Order: sequence, then structure tokens, then C-alpha cells
Amino acid sequence: MRVAQLSSETDFDGWRRAARRLRLEGVPPDQALWRVGAGDLFALAEGEMGACAHAAGAFTVPPAFPALAADVVCHRSADRFSRLYNVLWRLKDEPRLLEDRADPDVADALRMAGEVRRASHKMKAFVRFRLLEGVAPETYVAWFEPPHHVLERTAQHFVKRFANLRFSILTPDLCCHWDGAELAFTPGARKEDAPAADPLERDWLTYYASIFNPARLKVAAMQSEMPKRYWRNLPEAALIPALIEAAQERAENMVASEPTQPRKRAPSRTTVALIEAAPSPGDAPGSLEEIAAGVQACRRCDLWRGATQGVPGEGPAHAPLMLVGEQPGDMEDVAGHPFVGPAGQLLDRALAEAGIDRGKVFVTNAVKHFKHELRGKRRLHKTPDAGEITACRWWLDNERRLVRPRVIVALGGSAALAVFGRAMPIMKSRGQAMPLEDGAKGVVTVHPSYLLRVPDAAAKAAAYRDFVRDLTAVAELLRFK
Ligand code: URA
Repeated sequence: MRVAQLSSETDFDGWRRAARRLRLEGVPPDQALWRVGAGDLFALAEGEMGACAHAAGAFTVPPAFPALAADVVCHRSADRFSRLYNVLWRLKDEPRLLEDRADPDVADALRMAGEVRRASHKMKAFVRFRLLEGVAPETYVAWFEPPHHVLERTAQHFVKRFANLRFSILTPDLCCHWDGAELAFTPGARKEDAPAADPLERDWLTYYASIFNPARLKVAAMQSEMPKRYWRNLPEAALIPALIEAAQERAENMVASEPTQPRKRAPSRTTVALIEAAPSPGDAPGSLEEIAAGVQACRRCDLWRGATQGVPGEGPAHAPLMLVGEQPGDMEDVAGHPFVGPAGQLLDRALAEAGIDRGKVFVTNAVKHFKHELRGKRRLHKTPDAGEITACRWWLDNERRLVRPRVIVALGGSAALAVFGRAMPIMKSRGQAMPLEDGAKGVVTVHPSYLLRVPDAAAKAAAYRDFVRDLTAVAELLRFK
């Protein structure tokens, strides 16, 4: 019997070296024993010491095998190393073995690889960081119990996402720690080593409960996306049983109740006056006041029907910077001013941190009327479609023509479509200055309400910092051009 000693549960390189040697020496799978733990990387059972000295030569494997093996090694089953070696052994005489998905050894390996990839994917979705209270610098800790050994392969995802934060992910097998510069691994921890909650958690639970739609509940689909084994570490999971139980009654009540009318106000006298003063459709407005009037009278699409009023852009007539949002929200629709609600407050904070004075910015939206649907008494935001954005672009183009900003920032996808005239990959192109046809520079970044929706504390803090970083780049652009 030959013993291959691997240095850790995920020692893929060790497995590969040992498997290569065993195969070159002609050691069949039932004569190879795989062990994990301290010891020589490749130990030989007593009495067989001489054999390995003759191991030399080369063989090839199908290109798909190394990737498959790297996945399977991270599986939690105790016999994964020997099963893999068995497949490698068989490849000697059956070079096309991997193509036979019905072969039991191949099918098992593919299943294990799939389970590992799925565990890594779920880890990306279900790790919930909590702020360590009273610790400086700011540090976030998450407790997670992956079904397979996926921490090392998944840690880079979190490093990329939260590059500027300090965080640890604790698991029973292994922990990782990112200090903003280096990723370190330490042995496994206990659940009690991570904080049980943090100050943001209540807000997140309130938000989760409020977006839970009882009329759209599909328990099986939900449990397949969010398997129960992950629930114990997801704060929102504590709400799920009660939400499911109440769902039917809530949905029935929703159906039975009359739709509530939105808080729609009669247009103010100023609005009426503006409508009367509006340029006739087709005439290019000659001033921002004419745009404001024209927006009130606009019938370019149907959104005016459900809205309290149109919300034109606001700011200095020749502001060097124009910020374009998506559309007015519930509060903006009532107030008649852009970005005055929660997203606006977040935007104000981020602008201030980036050194931009909102008073010097022309703030507007791609679409000037609030698109929404009624849910009980609430008016829920609905994303405008490309037709509505295109119809309303006429107003934005006129605002651009009159203000002539040097830099235009599109906040989110709808704004990017309106500013650039084409869909933009926000995360890929964010923060970069791109030339626009009118000579201005265009920059895209996320919409501030995206930041409001990010569930966990670390993700929210990271997303906010990235947003401020984009706005800081905009401030630099304005300073140097
Ligand atoms: N979201 C927007 O895109 N614009 C606003 O004015 C408010 C919220």
C-alpha cells in the first residue's frame, strides 16, 4: 500500500504531484491511500521505499481534467482524493472517459464538482458581514458554514468587492482575514467568535419584510435559491416562516381591497401657469424656465397621467457639472424637486465627501415623471422603459444644450442610456471619463438608491466608498480641465 500525504483538505497541488507519481509508478487506485495532515507530502508505506525513485516520465490528461480535479478536491467527501485518482488511472486506457457522462465515476466527479461550484456561488450570496462594534479601524466579521471547502477559492471574490475594508470570514474549517493589503488564513473558528448582530441589522430586516411580496410567494423556488442549510446564518431567514405563514391571508386581503389612490395633488397654481406658458411641442425651449414649463405640459409618453407633476432639473444655469438620475421618486413627485428623498440625502452626503458642492451642480433626471405602481397605499417605483427614456430624452438634451456642463454624471443604467444613447455596463465602465458628442465628458456610476438596497453592512459600506470614489474622480476632472 502506498500512502500519499496531503498538507490540507484543499491541497490540490499536493494531490496532483502525488497522483502523477503514483500513476507513473503504476500504482493502482486500490493500492493508494490518501491522507490529510502534517507529514511528508508523499509518504511511502514501510518496505516500499525504493519504488518512488524510479518515477519519471510524462503523460497527458484531457484539458478538462485539471479543472474538474481542482473542483472535486474542495468537496467534503472523505474519499474524493481516491475517487479522483481512480478517474486519472482509468484515463490511461480510456482517454475519452470524461466524455461519457453516464459512466458512474465520471458522473460522480461531475456531481461533486458541481456541488463545490454551487457552494462557492452560495457563499458569495449568503455571507453576511457584521460590524465589530468599538473596534478601530472599522472591521467586519462574518460567520459562515460552507458545505464544502470553498473558503480559499471564494475569498478573492470578497477581497475584490471589499478591497478597501478590513474583514474576516470565519468558518468551522478555516478563516480568512483581509486587512486591506494582504489576505491571511488561520484555522477554523466557532460561531461565538463572530458578532451575533450589528446596529444596521434592524433596518435590513425591516427592509426585507417590506419587500417580501406575499402574492408572488413560491416556497419551492425560494428554498432552492436559498437552501435551508444556509438559513441559520442569515438574519433575514428568521422572518421567513412568519412571512410565509401570513402570505396567503395578506395576498387575499390585497386582492379584496380596493386599490388606494396615490397621494396625488392638484397641480399648484404655479404649475398651471407653467403649463400655460409651455412651448408648443417641437419648439426647442429657449431657457430652463421654458423647460420647466414644458415638462409640466409634456405628453410625450403616458407617465404624466399617474404623476403629481413633472420634475425638471434644477441648479445653476451654467453649472460645470450635471448629475442625471433615473426619475423622480415618490417624495420628488410630491415636492416637485429632484433628489430630495432618501436617495437624494445619500447623494448629498457622498457629494460633500467627494468635495462637490451640490449648490453648484445641475441635478436632473432621465425621465421627468414618477413611474410607479400602486401596492395598497404605497406607490412603488417602477423602472422606466427604453421608450419612456427615449421620449423624455428630448428634455434632457435641451437641458444639456442650455446648461452646457463640462462633465455629466449618469447615476445608474437608465441615466446612462439617456446620456450616452446606449446601454452601458455600469460596473465595468464606472468612474471613467468618456467623451460625449457635445464635447462634454460623460461618467457613469451607480444610482444612490442601489446603495440603499445593499443588504449587509460591509457590502453597503464598500458600495458607498466606491460611489464616493467615483464622485471624487469627477471632482478631479472638473478641477483639472
Ligand atoms: N431617484 C432619482 O433617480 N431621481 C430622483 O430625483 C430621486 C430619486
